[in-house]
Amino acid sequence: MIKKCLFPAAGYGTRFLPATKATPKEMLPILTKPLIQYGVEEAANAGLTTMAIITGRGKRAIEDHFDRSYELEHQIQGSPKEKLMTQIRSIIATCTFSYTRQIEMKGLGHAILTGETLIGNEAFAVILADDLCDNDGDSVLSQMIEVYEKYQCSVVAVEEVPLDQTDKYGIISGNLVDETTDTYRVTGMVEKPDPKDAPSNMAIIGRYILTPDIFDILRETKPGKAGEIQITDALLEQAKKGKVIAYKFKGVRFDCGSIDGFVQATNYFYDKEKEKLA
Ligand code: G1P
Repeated sequence: MIKKCLFPAAGYGTRFLPATKATPKEMLPILTKPLIQYGVEEAANAGLTTMAIITGRGKRAIEDHFDRSYELEHQIQGSPKEKLMTQIRSIIATCTFSYTRQIEMKGLGHAILTGETLIGNEAFAVILADDLCDNDGDSVLSQMIEVYEKYQCSVVAVEEVPLDQTDKYGIISGNLVDETTDTYRVTGMVEKPDPKDAPSNMAIIGRYILTPDIFDILRETKPGKAGEIQITDALLEQAKKGKVIAYKFKGVRFDCGSIDGFVQATNYFYDKEKEKLA
C-alpha cells in the first residue's frame, strides 16, 4: 500500500519573477487554489494520506497554507465565504503534512533523496506540482497506483510530445507490455535530449511511483544533465533490471512551470468551474 506522496517544492520559480520573489511558485493560484493544493488533492484522491514536502528558504507560506488559520476562520464563520474553505479544511483534517528543507539546489534527484528522511523504506509517489493534471475519472496518480499494484516496481507517467520539445523532458524508450492499459517496460531513458538524440517522443511528466531502493541508487548517482543529480539517471539503473514501467495516463496535463501552460490551465479550469465560482 502506498501511503506517502513527496512534493519537491524547493525550486526558485525564476520563470515567474517577480511574482515568485517572495511567494513560492507552488503557491501561485490557478483560479482560487494554489498549484500545490491541486497536487495534494490528487494524492488524497488516490488514497494517500501523508504529504511529504521538500521545501527551502522562502517557502513558509506552503506550511501555513496546510494549517489552520484561526483568526481568518473566526472572521468568516457563519458567512457565505465559509464554503470557500471547505476543500482545504477537509484536506487538513484528513492528511498529515511533514516537511524537510533542501539546503542546496542540486537537482530533482537530490530533492527526492532529501525526502528519504520523510519516506523511509517504502514505495512512495512523487508529484511535481508544476505539472497540473486533470481528468473526470480516477486521478492520474490513482491510475498509476493500479499499475504499481500489478507490476510492483517503479512507474513513470508519460505522454507523447512534439519531437522539437524532447529537450524539456526525461524521454523514455520501452516495449509495450499491455496495449489495453498503455503500459511499457522501460528499456532506456535520457534527460532532456536534443530531438536528434531522443530515443522517442514519450516524455516523463511530473508523476512517479518509486520503490525505496531508489535512495541508494541516488546516493551513487553522479551529476548529469545541467550538472544536477537527475532522477532520470537513477531510474535508468532500475530500468536496466526491468524494474520501471511507463504508463500513458488518461487525462490532460498543463506545464504550469511555463507561462503558456499556466495560462492554458487557468482558462481550462475557468471554463470548467465558472459556475461554481459565481
Ligand atoms: C523534471 C525532470 C524531467 C521530467 C519533468 C516533468 O524536469 O527532470 O525528467 O520530464 O520534470 O515535468 P524539470 O521540469 O524540473 O526541469
